[in-house]
Parts: sequence; structure tokens; C-alpha cells
Amino acid sequence: MAPNNNVLTTGNGNPVDNNQTSLTAGPDGPVLIQDFHLIDKLAHFDRERIPERVVHAKGAAAHGYFEVTHDISHLTKAKFLNQLGKRTPVFLRFSTVGGEKGSADTARDPRGFAIKFYTEEGNWDMVGNNTPVFFIRDPSKFPDFIHTQKRNPQTNLADPDAFWDFLSLVPESIHQVTILFSDRGTPDGYRHMNGYSSHTLKLVDHSGKFRYVKWHFKTNQGIKNLTAEQAKALASEDPDYATRDLFNAIEKGDFPSWNAYVQIMEPQDVEKYRFNSFDVTKVWSQKDYPLHPVGRLVLDRNPENYFAETEQAAFSPSHMVPGIDASVDRMLQGRLFSYPDTHRHRLGPNYQQIPINAPKSGVRNQQRDGFMTVNGNGGSAPNYEPNSSGISPVQNNTVGTTFSAQEVRGWTGRHGFNLVDIDFVQAGDLYRLMPEDAKTRLISNIVGHMKNAKKHIRDRQIANFKRADPEYGRRIEEGILKAAALESRQQRSTRRRLVVTDGIDFSSND
Ligand code: HEM
Repeated sequence: MAPNNNVLTTGNGNPVDNNQTSLTAGPDGPVLIQDFHLIDKLAHFDRERIPERVVHAKGAAAHGYFEVTHDISHLTKAKFLNQLGKRTPVFLRFSTVGGEKGSADTARDPRGFAIKFYTEEGNWDMVGNNTPVFFIRDPSKFPDFIHTQKRNPQTNLADPDAFWDFLSLVPESIHQVTILFSDRGTPDGYRHMNGYSSHTLKLVDHSGKFRYVKWHFKTNQGIKNLTAEQAKALASEDPDYATRDLFNAIEKGDFPSWNAYVQIMEPQDVEKYRFNSFDVTKVWSQKDYPLHPVGRLVLDRNPENYFAETEQAAFSPSHMVPGIDASVDRMLQGRLFSYPDTHRHRLGPNYQQIPINAPKSGVRNQQRDGFMTVNGNGGSAPNYEPNSSGISPVQNNTVGTTFSAQEVRGWTGRHGFNLVDIDFVQAGDLYRLMPEDAKTRLISNIVGHMKNAKKHIRDRQIANFKRADPEYGRRIEEGILKAAALESRQQRSTRRRLVVTDGIDFSSND
């Protein structure tokens, strides 16, 4: 019998007779538990929320494609990069980092820039940010760092003491702190910012030889930032500003795009370079390692359903394809574990079967069962390997060239970076590079935030800024003194706040 597609059904496919009135015993009697439609509707509703991402909870995404514009097939055997003009479908999710799922898009925060490339050899996820560096360089610090950006365990309020206490005790953060409080800390939506792998990755060629690379995605819309005042106003007037801007632009056919580049470092240069190439708090100067164009990324289709696509998307730096490999960057190594681990918690062990995450090139293996198995579970095929069925998928014996071979030697131990002075160099360079008006806004943004932290914490962080550049630290110190003087004057002149009462007794309405 052909189904009538207009008739509402229950989850098990029964036609629903009435979707407005519960089944009751008489007009004034209790609701009957035999009303499966009602119970199923409420029970499903009770389970609608899944855990939000522990970081990067607020985000927006779009579909599009990546097109190869320059031949780099001599550098990598990644098939999606092996031909000029070749297009690969992508899904790109932008996000803020620290806030909850309902937080404002315009918060001062790095922005996530996570791209899923659905290649013919499985998915490559480039899970980067709009900043080329990060606050810390060892994964063991990540949970602590994130706790300081979240709410205080007692007050449930943002905690400027925790924020600056941690950062001032982790001085390698100063480069990213300088970017965060610069104009780029509040981008004007998601279309007007760049994306970076930040980490050093590898490109591996057909012979297994590799080069180190950093990826850059440069916006073709031009960099545009909000002033601190605009960002603050939008946070209350239009907290979904960036989400709306991206959706509307794509909806009206104004497709945002980014040009992709790589910086390339030969492995033998690693020892010679003046910065540690695997320290994600540092950039490679483009004077030392220029950008090589690779392709163009275009977003041309909005998701049809936010939850199914954007919310259930699961990106991981460990989702790689032959020809693209991880480096020994220890933050990156920590992330290779952390993302699939959180996906199994957030979405379940079969998160790769969710359509937005499923590789378009297919999946063939002997993994079976688990919550929410929806891909047929391998049917009647053997669930073990090796086997003699002749129909089971088998390995392709390309060990040694699928991933790059690299000699690793050394004594196990908790080896620190042992870098101190060099941690301040790039932050100081960035400060000195800024035009005067940008410097003034940077100082004002830092002062506006740091003035709320305790004095001993501020003093420690000011000393860090002075190590980056004496003028940088001095101007912050002076700004905080001025802000404190202004605040005490204002407190003296504050009048009693007006409280508005409407005088209506709502109970008299009955
Ligand atoms: C999201 C962990 C560093 C970029 C996440 C999530 C976790 C996480 C658990 C939530 C994922 C989800 O629920 O789907 C870590 C750890 C780090 C680290 C342990 C350091 C050891 C970084 C760095 C970057 C970055 C350095 C950028 C270069 C992102 C992005 C997302 C994300 C863009 C959002 C992905 C999306 O849109 O779904 N991270 N992270 N993270 N992280 Fe990290």
C-alpha cells in the first residue's frame, strides 16, 4: 500500500489521529499512559539536547568546495590535490571558543575555523583557528587553560583573576594574548577573517618523503574587525550577528571564499630555525617561509538543518588522508587523541556514521555494533579479518608510504621547552608592527579587561608585557592606574540606582 505522505505518523510509523489533544479518561479525567504518541513525543523531546561541545560550543557552518588552483602534486600524494581544477566538497564550521552554545558571536575570543574535506580517500579535517598561534604548547595545560576561560566554580561568573592568573604564569601565551586583544580579537563576522592550521603538519609525496607545512586560508572578503564598542553593543542587540551574516550572505548568493596557501619547511631546516618549528605559540615568518598558493575554498550552500549538520559535525585533526600527516608538535599530538574521544562521548561511538561525518568515499571494515548503528552493520559479511570469505575488505599493503616514516630517538621524560626570552620576541615584534591607533586600541582592550584582576596578578602580567616591549608594558601599567583613578571618582559620584515598579497586583487578575 502506498503511504500517504501527508499523514503525520508516530515514530513507529502509525498514522496519528490527533496531534492536539491527549488521550484522557473522560473530559476531566487523567491522561492515559496508553497514549503512545504523547509519551513518545514527550520522551523524545526530553532527550533533544546532546552535550554541547566543551569548547567551541557556539558556531555556524556552511557547505562548499575546495578547488585546486596550483599544482602541488610533487609535494603530496593526497589525491584531492593531484590535479588542477579538481573540486572536493567541504563543510566548514566557524565558532567562538569559550562561551556556551547561547553566547554572543561577537565576544573577544579566537574563532574556530574547522574544514571537513570529503576526499576520494576519506575525510581530511583541517581543524584550525583564525589565529596562527595558540596560548599554550603542551596538551597537559589545555583543560586548565580552558577552565580559566569558563565560569568561576563558585560564582558561576566570568573570572578575570583566573584568566590573568593563568596567563601571567604561562608567559608563552603572550603572543596569542596580543592577537586576542588586538582588533583581530573581534572579527566582523566569520567571512572577514583568515583561517590557519596554526600547527605544523606534513605533506608527504609519492616516495614517502615529507616537508613540514603550515596552512593559511586568506579571506577574499578582506579582513574586517569590530571595534570593542561595536562588539559590545552587538552582544546585546544581535548576539547571533556572525551566524546571521554568514547565513544571509550565502542565501542571497554572495558566496564567501578563501585562498589557501602553505608555508613549506624542509625537515633539515628544523634544527636551524631560530624558533622551535613545533611550538604552536610561534609563527614562521613569511620572509623566511613564503606562502605558496594551493587552492580556493568557496562556501555556497547553507545547511538544511542546523542540528543534523552543524551540531552533529565532528572534526578531528586525526582525520587525515594519505599525503597529509601530523608533525611531532605535542599540542597537535594531544589533539589527535582528544577529538575522537570527545566525539564518542558527545555523539556516540558511531559518530562517523552520522551523514555529515560519513566519508563520501565509503567505509569498509570489521567494526560492528554500538549505540546508534545505522549503516547496516556490515550485513552478513564476516566481522573479523583475516578471513577466507573472499568478499571482506583487506589492507592495501602501502605501509611506509601511506604515512611518512620518521626516526624518533630520545630518553623518555617530561621535557620542557626550556625557552624563556624567545617567548617574548614575536609578541614584541607584533606590537611594534602595529600602527599607533591599533596600539592604542590594543592597550585600551587589555586595560579594560585586566583592570578587574587582582593587583599582584596584574603586576606579574605587566612584567610579561614589558619583556615583550618596554613601551607595551608601560602603557598598560599607566592605563590601569588611570582607569583605577577614574573608577574611584565615578564611585564617589554614583547616585542611587532607579528601580522601576509598575504597581500592578497580578493576583487581582484572577
Ligand atoms: C573543538 C580539545 C587545541 C581548534 C575542540 C573540542 C575539544 C577540543 C574537546 C570539542 C570538539 C567537539 O565536541 O566536537 C582541544 C585540545 C587542545 C585543543 C585538548 C590542545 C591540546 C586547539 C587548537 C586549535 C583548536 C590549538 C586551533 C589551532 C578547535 C576548533 C574546534 C575545537 C576549531 C571546533 C571544531 C568544530 O567546529 O566542531 N577542541 N583543542 N583546538 N578546537 Fe580544540
